[in-house]
Amino acid sequence: MSSFKALRCHAADKGVDARVVDMSVDDLSEGSVLIRGAWSGINFKDALAVTGKGKIMRSMPLNAGIDIAGTVETSEDPRFRPGEEVLVTGCGLGETRDGGFAGFTRVPADMVVPLPEGLDLRQAMAIGTAGFTAAMALVRMEQNGQHPDLGPILVNGASGGVGSFAIRLFSRAGYQVTALTGKADAADYLKGLGASEILDTAGLDLGKRPMEKALWGGAVDSLGGEQLTWLTRTTQPWGNIGAIGLAAGIELNTTVLPFILRGVSLLGINSVECARDLRLAVWRRVGELLEPQDCEAIIAGEVGLDGVVDTAESLLARKVRGRTLVKLPN
Ligand SMILES: NC(=O)c1ccc[n+]([C@@H]2O[C@H](COP(=O)([O-])OP(=O)(O)OC[C@H]3O[C@@H](n4cnc5c(N)ncnc54)[C@H](OP(=O)(O)O)[C@@H]3O)[C@@H](O)[C@H]2O)c1
Repeated sequence: MSSFKALRCHAADKGVDARVVDMSVDDLSEGSVLIRGAWSGINFKDALAVTGKGKIMRSMPLNAGIDIAGTVETSEDPRFRPGEEVLVTGCGLGETRDGGFAGFTRVPADMVVPLPEGLDLRQAMAIGTAGFTAAMALVRMEQNGQHPDLGPILVNGASGGVGSFAIRLFSRAGYQVTALTGKADAADYLKGLGASEILDTAGLDLGKRPMEKALWGGAVDSLGGEQLTWLTRTTQPWGNIGAIGLAAGIELNTTVLPFILRGVSLLGINSVECARDLRLAVWRRVGELLEPQDCEAIIAGEVGLDGVVDTAESLLARKVRGRTLVKLPN
């Protein structure tokens, strides 16, 4: 391949200038595996990066995109062969090294995950970091004793990428799921994913006491701030809360009472840097629980590299439901 296209972010006076450029493999971050990209997807972090609304990239210029799925073009590592279908999520892609919104991406072999059985490359990127992270919450919560008898799982940011997959994964794993959303028109979509109850953020009474009536067996939180605070105060004894996101804020103003009087656990979920064993175990669980049609139900649409920035703006304006795929130029 002589040259290929990439969505590359450059430092600009006002934040970030993200534009499609021509590159060659020699320009890419180092690595032993070269992947010919097929699909990626747009995560909240990608949206912050390409719009410059969050400081995601540690240095620029850098190709954006925290996820990639494609085929191995060349590999200096015997674990991977040319033509093999693989994916990479997180691991610093689009943050500290060139990311997946490009015809080719080069990475160290330890970051590379063989495509889970039963999924194709497009479905794998419908899942992407969002679905992988929701699955990591399920795995970690169950490792810490979560089970359906504890009560329903509250999923907030429900119509987003993480929220949509959390609903699907937990319902497939046998849990009752309550979806909390700010989108008044999302009820049918969320029920289709497996939510048995829908709550509207607008009508939510957050209460003020250190502990309120215990409502949730556990929770998956994409928002942080007031809603995460409320979840600590309303989770059942021995329930777990997977703390995933900060879409609404980074604050957490709670007390120790839910932890010491109810045994509630707040579990940190970090999808970027996690041990390879855990990464492979989470993808295995994804493969066990999700059917191809689960991914299709969550796909909002597809764009090319030139459509990423506009979609990122819509995502940050909370206008996107589910996941938008990026078709890579190959
Ligand atoms: N810890 C990790 O490793 C990890 C991995 C992936 C993502 N994350 C984080 O998880 C969060 C969700 O990511 P995502 O890719 O699912 O994003 P997304 O697709 O944009 O979904 C976020 C959803 O949260 C709700 N929301 C957004 N902004 C809000 C606000 N200001 N106040 C209240 N609700 C708001 C909206 O859902 P409704 O309209 O349905 O309410 C939105 O669709 C982000 O903070 C992201 O950075 C963390």
